Amino acid sequence: MGNETDDAITDPAEFWEARYTTTRDENGRVWSGRVNAAVEREVTGLAPGRALELGSGEGGDALWLAARGWRVTAVDISATALAVGAQTAARDGLADRIRWVQADLATWQPDTGYNLVTAAFLHSPVELPREGILRRAAAAVAPGGRLLVVGHGEFPSAAKHADHDDAPPLPTPDEVLAALELPEGWTVETNAVVGRAVTWRDGTDLELDDTVLRVRRDG
Ligand SMILES: C[S@@+](CC[C@H](N)C(=O)[O-])C[C@H]1O[C@@H](n2cnc3c(N)ncnc32)[C@H](O)[C@@H]1O
Repeated sequence: MGNETDDAITDPAEFWEARYTTTRDENGRVWSGRVNAAVEREVTGLAPGRALELGSGEGGDALWLAARGWRVTAVDISATALAVGAQTAARDGLADRIRWVQADLATWQPDTGYNLVTAAFLHSPVELPREGILRRAAAAVAPGGRLLVVGHGEFPSAAKHADHDDAPPLPTPDEVLAALELPEGWTVETNAVVGRAVTWRDGTDLELDDTVLRVRRDG
C-alpha cells in the first residue's frame, strides 16, 4: 500500500483521500474490487438481512453482499473510494441495495439492529482508534446477528513501505476478542488465522495470514 507522496500526511481523511486518488491501477481502483476471501467464506450460508460494513473502501465486500440479497450500509472516510463503489453498484444494478456513507469511524455512531457487521482489513498507518470502533460495531449487532472482523496477521512483506514501520502491532484474533469486551450473551463462532495465497502487484506470489474473528449475539 505504498505511495511516497502521502508519507507526510497524518490526517486520516486527507491520507486516505490521497491514497484513493493517487494510487489507482489501470482500472481506476486501489483494491481488486473482489470480495475478501474470508468474508466470502464466513458469510456464505448466512441468511441475508441488514449489513454494516466498516471501512468499505471501494466496496468489494459491499457489492458482493448486495448481490446476495443483503441491504448494506458501507462506511468509509474516503469520498473517492465510495464513489468508485457507487459507480460499480449502479453499473451492476445494485444501487438500491447499498447506502454509501462518508464518515470518520473515530466519531461515527452506527444505528443498531444489523444482522451482520463487518470490518475487513480496517488498518491504517495514520490514527485509527480501532478498538473503540469495533466495540461500537458490536453494539450495533441485532440479537441473533454477527460481527465479523478480518485483519492482516502480518503486513505483506512485498508491501515494503514506511507505512508499516511505525504501525501498531497487529492483533491476534484472541486480542481482537478481548478488546471487544463483549458482555454475556455472545458466542465465538470463528477464531482463526487462515493462510491466503495472493499474487502481489509486482507479480510476487505470497502466502498471507488473515486473522478472522466471528462472534454471534445470542438471539
Ligand atoms: C486497508 S483499507 C481496506 C478496505 C476494504 N475493507 C478492503 O478490504 O478492501 C482500509 C479502509 O479503511 C478506511 N478508513 C481508514 N480510517 C478510517 C476512518 N477513520 N473512518 C472511516 N474509514 C476509515 C480507509 O479509507 C480504507 O478504505
